[in-house]
Amino acid sequence: MKLLIDDAHLDAIKKVYEFFPVAGVTTNPTILSKVGGNPFDTLRAIREFIGEEADLHVQAVSRRAEKIVDEARHITEILGANTYVKIPAVPEGFKAMKILVDTSEILFTATAIYTPMQAFIAGQCGASYAAPYVNRIDNMGFDGIRVAQEIQQIFSANHMETEVIAASFKNSQQVLELCKSGVGAATVAPEIFFALIKNSAIDDAVENFIADFESFAGKEKSMLDFQ
Ligand code: G3P
Repeated sequence: MKLLIDDAHLDAIKKVYEFFPVAGVTTNPTILSKVGGNPFDTLRAIREFIGEEADLHVQAVSRRAEKIVDEARHITEILGANTYVKIPAVPEGFKAMKILVDTSEILFTATAIYTPMQAFIAGQCGASYAAPYVNRIDNMGFDGIRVAQEIQQIFSANHMETEVIAASFKNSQQVLELCKSGVGAATVAPEIFFALIKNSAIDDAVENFIADFESFAGKEKSMLDFQ
């Protein structure tokens, strides 16, 4: 399961990259609204930092298929290879996906997925990824993890190459559940990244090892001080 960062603040992205294995960054219009300004200034800076090999997901916002297609071309022209255009999994979005598959090499991710059937249709339209919104589904009274797992089963049972990129998490347990299921990717807000391994027992264990070493070697000493 690839891990991506669901955020557009460069400082937050840099901080997660410093400590975690990250495959790329996902954004959506709401995420971009939190930074403001020209969205391409934000996205170019992210692309420059993560490099051309990393995945960058950027959403088209038009309502009509033809305009979504134009947006997809514009986004990928500016942000280059390994840019996935996020397209909502609604009828106009499916129409845009079909046009893109027939006329371009542009990669796209079906987004705003709340039901398995949306993901199935998006997969049939050629989506590289389908993004179920785990936490938002939970908040509707359904089981977001289960929906993501069902989508993965549908792709597998139908021999489809589309992968799940699970989105919208409120806690690290949700991410763990999908990790156990082996979904293709999960996109996680920076604060959830740090919560993935936050555990005072782990911190205590590491601190105790250091204290034990310093008890005989001296304060601030490490293996570097011995031959
Ligand atoms: O990118 C879409 C998804 O991550 C939305 O998350 O937290 O707004 O439900 P959230």
